[in-house]
Amino acid sequence: MTRQVATNITWHPGHVTREERMAVTRQKPCCIWLTGLSACGKSTIAMALEQVLIQRGHLAYVLDGDNIRHGLNKNLGFSPEDREENIRRIGEVAKLFVDAGLIVITSFISPYRADRDKVRALLQPGEFVEVFVDASVEVCAKRDPKGLYEKAMRGEIKNFTGVSPDAPYEAPASPELHLKTDEISVEEAVATLLDYLESKGHLTPGA
Ligand code: ADX
Repeated sequence: MTRQVATNITWHPGHVTREERMAVTRQKPCCIWLTGLSACGKSTIAMALEQVLIQRGHLAYVLDGDNIRHGLNKNLGFSPEDREENIRRIGEVAKLFVDAGLIVITSFISPYRADRDKVRALLQPGEFVEVFVDASVEVCAKRDPKGLYEKAMRGEIKNFTGVSPDAPYEAPASPELHLKTDEISVEEAVATLLDYLESKGHLTPGA
């Protein structure tokens, strides 16, 4: 099926400003972009951070790779093109959520630097917080909570990030935060993220 791209469409600006939304949510929205290998700790940290933020009265929401691939991105696989489209769509969703006033926490391998940089460019300066959730392939393969590394090493999964030569992971060159999850606990990772959000005024009413 050949697809026709829409023409004759017009952008309709709304009547509500960012400042008016921030006055309601009492926080400065942003996108905490967690990137790293499968089993490096992204989802665990994302869910823990979301819980603490909600408990403290902030509007936070997690977009998680495995979960989003059950719905919005269920038609995508793990080829480089599909991963690019996966991250492009999530970038657009994150942008909408940030515009709505939320602290969005994303948890995707997002292995390609260029794709992450495109999401950064979609957002305003200071809104994209790139967090390298860093654990070596060896450590992730030892954890292997879903048994995927074992399968990949047996050659039963193609394109497995960090294992297959055709599925590399490009580490961030200068992330806002670098969390080494083989050295720190989930609680320490969450505390580091909260300190960062606090220091940049994201959690301050009227900031
Ligand atoms: S991304 O590369 O496109 O950003 P995403 O974060 O959405 O990946 O999905 C990664 C999750 O899909 C992994 O945590 C793992 O559970 C599962 N998965 C299945 N096949 C693969 C694969 N070939 N490479 C990496 N992850 C895979």
